[in-house]
Amino acid sequence: MPFKRPLSSHTSDDESISSHDGPSSKRHILPCNIKEEKLLLVYILQAKIHPETMSELAALVENYKSERVNKSHQEPSVVSKLNIELTSHAEKADVIVTGTNMRRRLERHIDWSIAKTKAIVTPLWLRDSVTSDRPLPCGSYVAIHDIEDETSRNYDIVQDTSSSSPFRFSSGPEKETSWQTEPDEPIDATEVKSLSHNAKYSCLRSSPLVCPNQTLVNEIDIIRRGRNVEGEERSMLSYSRAISVIKAYPHVITERNFQDLRELPFLGEKLLSMIEEFLKTDRITDAQKILADPRFQSLSAFITIHGIGPHSARRLYDLGLRTLEELERYYEVRPGVSDEETMSLLDTEVSANTEDAVEKSIKIGLALRHDLSQTIPRDEVEEINRTIMRELGHVQKGCKSVIAGGYRRGKPQSNDVDIVITHADWHIGSQKVKGLCRKLVQRLYEQGFVTHVMHLSGFHKHKALRTHHWDSLEKALTVFVWPHNLSRRRVYRRVDLIFAAPEVFWTAVVGWTGSTMFQRDLRLWAKQKKGMKFDSSGISRRHDSKLYHPSTERDVFKALGLVYVHPTLRNADA
Ligand code: CTP
Ligand code: MN
Ligand code: MN
Repeated sequence: MPFKRPLSSHTSDDESISSHDGPSSKRHILPCNIKEEKLLLVYILQAKIHPETMSELAALVENYKSERVNKSHQEPSVVSKLNIELTSHAEKADVIVTGTNMRRRLERHIDWSIAKTKAIVTPLWLRDSVTSDRPLPCGSYVAIHDIEDETSRNYDIVQDTSSSSPFRFSSGPEKETSWQTEPDEPIDATEVKSLSHNAKYSCLRSSPLVCPNQTLVNEIDIIRRGRNVEGEERSMLSYSRAISVIKAYPHVITERNFQDLRELPFLGEKLLSMIEEFLKTDRITDAQKILADPRFQSLSAFITIHGIGPHSARRLYDLGLRTLEELERYYEVRPGVSDEETMSLLDTEVSANTEDAVEKSIKIGLALRHDLSQTIPRDEVEEINRTIMRELGHVQKGCKSVIAGGYRRGKPQSNDVDIVITHADWHIGSQKVKGLCRKLVQRLYEQGFVTHVMHLSGFHKHKALRTHHWDSLEKALTVFVWPHNLSRRRVYRRVDLIFAAPEVFWTAVVGWTGSTMFQRDLRLWAKQKKGMKFDSSGISRRHDSKLYHPSTERDVFKALGLVYVHPTLRNADA
């Protein structure tokens, strides 16, 4: 055996295990010297709140939570007084946020006997509390006037506000959420209305980042991940489909409306009985069994390393390896130190997807795993993009980029940064972009921003061999780091750079915005319904290979005969 440590040790950054309450899968932890404020559990009632407002509010809370933790590390003395968490169970909540002011409407979703024990407020309470960094008194935000007194009283009990000042506040115009800095246009309500949660393809549905049944989704996702690590692809795909259907379902699933689920696609009897079990017990036995399975824990941990897929994970497991520490020893890697030289990938003409290159990328992923497993907040994603585009300006003027991936779908924290780049000139852009990926990576390396290239592709020696547009994207999957001279801790980040000619820029943006299931369904829709072929590197008509060259993102949807779906509503995966 190439390792000696006892098998029982388990690392803290193994595949994170979804929490059962609250949409985030990662716990936010304050430094231990800080006194924690009382936790306020907030339930957002989906009914009467528009799906995009719903996901905006949920993202607001998630983002606030992580910013609060970051700030508390930087300035422990000024940690905010607002400690909130979302719950998907009204009965567990301290505060219920709702868009309705009618008792009758509320009662359709929440028992009156429960409602009377809660503080029931308008969404503005959540926004203003977040803006003010403190849980504001409920008085001016009462949603249901029938229980105005109960709301204030219940809130006072939870908050123990006797000592707090009788702070009055304005219920002025609703404020912008602070993280929404991306240039995407706002959501068009008429477009959203023409999407349908019953549709078979996720590109016809509206899928928010956090859905009203997110804890159920997280539970089913455990089973999907279980099938994934075992290589059971068909089964995994049916769980992915079930998840994507539930992501778009706009109502909280209860025993009362359970039968309505039969009208949704891809939810067979097995799934329905799992959902039923979840409604009764808050758990799905199959999911809990998988979570508790040591083999699942090992395989899940292994596939978090770049370069290790389910197949390699099982091979490593069969060698007797169980933990990431054992993997480190097996690959002779020192944590935090990566001696691997992958920049040589830049020297070769052909893409280096050899076994050797893969092994190198595994070693890098392992050595840097403590950094790479940390998520990236939105402002840093933006800063990385700005830095890279500034460097690109030294290599080629006139380029533009869109940050795609989870960031563009509204995730407050990303696992990596996906940047799609083109040249702004439609006519000469294609020539300008060719070979640019390699040049940019070289420049970033020389400037100390990129330390490793895990994978390079789309570099073709013989242009004549190209029969299609789909190999026209140049890609570099890199490791980025802020250079030493800047006053911050060096954290390694994964950054994907995708170069596209202007004609395929927007298809590349759509492809790389994801989510994976949304992308998959775009391809399927194009093929099954439109006789077309779609992927990140282009759209073409099957029968005569006619190419489409969309000049906006809307054009991509139009070419495929689809209503535009806003990026933040493309979260068709868990
Ligand atoms: N994608 C792709 N080809 C790849 C890898 C990814 O087309 N070789 C697309 C997928 O559609 C995916 C999107 O790019 O949805 C972004 O992928 P990824 O960065 O892996 O995931 P995110 O959704 O951005 O989420 P995160 O990075 O935060 O995990
Ligand atoms: Mn990403
Ligand atoms: Mn990526």
